[in-house]
Amino acid sequence: MDLMIREANVGDKIHVLKFCKGTFSWGDYIDQVWDSWLSEGNLFVCENKLPIGICHAFYSKDRIWIEGIRVDPNFRRQKIGSQLIKHAEFIGKEKNISFSYMLIDAQNTASLSMAKSLNYDIFQTWDFYSLDPKTNSHHAVDFEKSSDCKSYTQYVKSWRWLPLDDELLSLFSQQNKVVKSTVDGNASLAIITDSEHFDRTMIVTLFSDHDGATIQILSFLQNHAMNKNYTRIQILTTNKLPKFDTLEHKISFCLMKKYLI
Ligand SMILES: CC(C)(COP(=O)(O)OP(=O)(O)OC[C@H]1O[C@@H](n2cnc3c(N)ncnc32)[C@H](O)[C@@H]1OP(=O)(O)O)[C@@H](O)C(=O)NCCC(=O)NCCS
Repeated sequence: MDLMIREANVGDKIHVLKFCKGTFSWGDYIDQVWDSWLSEGNLFVCENKLPIGICHAFYSKDRIWIEGIRVDPNFRRQKIGSQLIKHAEFIGKEKNISFSYMLIDAQNTASLSMAKSLNYDIFQTWDFYSLDPKTNSHHAVDFEKSSDCKSYTQYVKSWRWLPLDDELLSLFSQQNKVVKSTVDGNASLAIITDSEHFDRTMIVTLFSDHDGATIQILSFLQNHAMNKNYTRIQILTTNKLPKFDTLEHKISFCLMKKYLI
């Protein structure tokens, strides 16, 4: 087969969305992010006369974030997904980036097998919980003003896991985006961000070290979301969360990592 990988263009959208319609049991989200990924650049298309596969890469200082890998169901198991990832890695290597990351649903055996065949390892497991906004006055949290980030090395920005350094953490603190609760000397901490792709969606990276402290934060988040007119709260964490009103575990994800030699 005569394959070519190139940057996506406006005309690809209709063809790509056609083969992405039924990717998962619930559909797909590519239609919601396509325009933004296209304008960001590094949206790669594999073409065989028409587009038959895509992936998007976001390059930051220390990592490639690979997302949205999709292969037309009629063309799977022909290394198209692998070639798209290798293409994204090649560009990352040219930029002297050392690591590549991607997030895969822990149940997505096809994608996990592909990632493993490309020498990615499971670096961490993250859980995605949803929480409903709700008026709620019982919470004991503080806006953290002076965090040092030794134990908080990454956060989630619009479903991308990105490095968190002191500078960024202090910026978030100034913007009142870091909340902390301490119970019996143990602290839980949350970093609050806005989704860039989905309206009125709050995305929270939660570091939960104590169930009681976490419950205070969850309660705060419900109320904060209500006051700020968010319609949904998405929480990402590596910790098992305590039972809490409207808190629902949705999916477990494997954060895959590869050292690019
Ligand atoms: C996952 C996906 C992108 C793989 O694309 P693909 O082009 O079919 O994958 P490749 O041909 O490059 O596969 C490379 C290797 O991965 C593994 N693999 C891929 N699909 C597999 C499957 N369905 N079952 C088991 N192993 C699989 C195999 O080891 C394969 O090598 P092999 O065919 O020589 O055995 C494709 O199945 C897809 O679009 N799925 C729906 C969207 C999705 O899940 N995206 C990933 C989100 S993180």
